[in-house]
Amino acid sequence: MTAFQVRGLTRRFRDTVALDDVSLDVHDGEFLVVLGPSGSGKSTLLEILAGLQRADAGEVRYRDRPVDGPRPEIGVVFQDPALYPWRTVGRNVGIGLELDGVPAADRRRRVAAQLAVVGLAGQDERYPHQLSGGMRQRAGLARALVRDPSVLLMDEPYGAVDHITRVRLQQDLLELWSRRRTTVVFVTHDVGEAVLLADRVVLLSARPGRVAREFSIDAPRPRARGDKALLAYESEVYAALREPAGTHSRQ
Ligand SMILES: Nc1ncnc2c1ncn2[C@@H]1O[C@H](COP(=O)(O)OP(=O)(O)OP(=O)(O)O)[C@@H](O)[C@H]1O
Ligand SMILES: [Mg+2]
Repeated sequence: MTAFQVRGLTRRFRDTVALDDVSLDVHDGEFLVVLGPSGSGKSTLLEILAGLQRADAGEVRYRDRPVDGPRPEIGVVFQDPALYPWRTVGRNVGIGLELDGVPAADRRRRVAAQLAVVGLAGQDERYPHQLSGGMRQRAGLARALVRDPSVLLMDEPYGAVDHITRVRLQQDLLELWSRRRTTVVFVTHDVGEAVLLADRVVLLSARPGRVAREFSIDAPRPRARGDKALLAYESEVYAALREPAGTHSRQ
């Protein structure tokens, strides 16, 4: 089944065309990576999928229903996890459950379990400022996962952490995904990250954002950075990035 169907999506901001006639499908259980330079409309696309922004033209459907606002089964992880500084980690992660009206005891149990899954066991009572950047990012992921979403939309979630932490977080995300097979749409401008994670990479071109190319990453899993098969895909993507704008062919 198809999770998202995007057809002819266009989004303009005054004189900027952020997305121009973008069409793509996101399949159930797929790990889709949207790759593109700064300003190619990646965040705009993700926010439209999340129901946080409207399109100017075209259609976006989630499980065959038009996307007209945020849904509990669609979890979003932003680049900046934006945790409330006055709430403990546990109460930040549980905020969606509070909104859902889940009783406190239940909430605490689910939050504790989710924190353990993302490697933050026992951190419930700490405050965000007591965590490292990587730990805050994990808390942001836990906040999205605790509502048991069918889809995770992730916008450059590891852009602000150091390289070694980033590699660790990528590996953890892959392990988690291999267990849950949640549909993931992951935005990045990092080619290595894209091919490591993805079943499929959609490359956007900058201004206006259009689908320039698609790559199926058929490398075996589990994967690790530096795998030979992945390096071949990386070269292919870098070659596509070197093509002058306008010469991209659609696959
Ligand atoms: N709220 C807004 N008002 C005006 N212009 C906007 C707005 N949001 C995005 N844009 C413009 O739309 C284009 C795409 O922006 P978007 O944030 O989607 O790009 P991006 O691919 O996520 O870039 P980055 O990699 O830097 O995060 C840019 O030219 C940006 O200036
Ligand atoms: Mg962005």
